[in-house]
Amino acid sequence: MTAYTRITVKPVSGALGAEISGVAVADELDTETINEIRAALLDHLVIFFREQDLPVDRHKAFTRRFGDIFIHPNYQLGQEDKETVYLLRRPGDASVAGENWHADTTMMETPPMGAILYALETPAFGGDTLFANQYSAYESLSDAMKDMLDGVMAVHSDIRIAGPQSGVNAKRSSQVRADDQWRPTVNTHPVVRIHPESGRKGLFVNPIYTTHLEGMSDAESAPILNFLYQHQCRPEFTCRFRWKPGSIAFWDNRCTLHLAIHDNHDCVRHMQRTQIAG
Ligand code: SIN
Repeated sequence: MTAYTRITVKPVSGALGAEISGVAVADELDTETINEIRAALLDHLVIFFREQDLPVDRHKAFTRRFGDIFIHPNYQLGQEDKETVYLLRRPGDASVAGENWHADTTMMETPPMGAILYALETPAFGGDTLFANQYSAYESLSDAMKDMLDGVMAVHSDIRIAGPQSGVNAKRSSQVRADDQWRPTVNTHPVVRIHPESGRKGLFVNPIYTTHLEGMSDAESAPILNFLYQHQCRPEFTCRFRWKPGSIAFWDNRCTLHLAIHDNHDCVRHMQRTQIAG
C-alpha cells in the first residue's frame, strides 16, 4: 500500500473502497496529488470524496488528469456536451439506470477504465450505490473453476439496455438512444481479465452486458454465468456508499462492479458523470 503525504485515505470496508480527504477536487491539483489519488484508486478500487463543489468544467478537467474522456454511445440525447452524462431519477420512475450489477459499457471493444460520479441532488435516504471487488471474486474461486475459466471469452452487448427493443425509456427519466438507426454494439472479452496496471486477475462478466460465453449456446453458458453472477457480488466482496450532495465516487471499471439501488421511488436523484477512456 502507498504511503500518502498529500491526501488522507480511510478504507470504508474490508473488501474495497476508501474515503479520501484533504483535497478539493475542483482545484488545479499538482502532479503529486494526482499521483496519490491514482495510487489510492489502484489500492482501493473505488474512492470517495465528500463535500465537493464540482462544476462541470472542473469535473471534466479533473477527469482529464487520468486520461481522455470517454464519450458514451447511448447517452447522446441532444445535449451539446457529449462528455458528460446526467443520470436523473424522478418520483414514479419504475426503473433506474444501473440497477443490476455491472461494470460500465463493457460492450465496447475498449471499455472505459473508470468513472467519476458526482451527486448534484440526492434523497434524504436511499439511492445508495454498491461496489464489488472482482479481484477477490476471482481469487476466491476453486483452482478447478479458475482452470476451467482460463482462456474463455464472453460476449458483451448493449441489446438489453439501449435501442428501441430494450423498452427502458418508458420506465425511467434517464433516457438512452432508442432511434431506428441504433444498432447493438457487441464485443468479446476474456472472462478473467488481467488488470493492465496492477497485473492482477479479476472476473470480467456482468449480468447487464454479458450475453453468453463465446462458442457456447445461451443454454450452455447460463449455468456458468449464473454461478459467476451470484458469486461475484457476495457481501464479503462489497461496500456500500451513501450519497449526499457534493459526494463523488471514482471507480476503477476494470476490477469492480457496481449497482445503483432503486429503493426510493419518490425521490429526485441527479448525478453528473464522466468516464475515462480505457
Ligand atoms: C451507474 O451505473 O453508473 C450509476 C450508478 C449510480 O447512479 O449510483
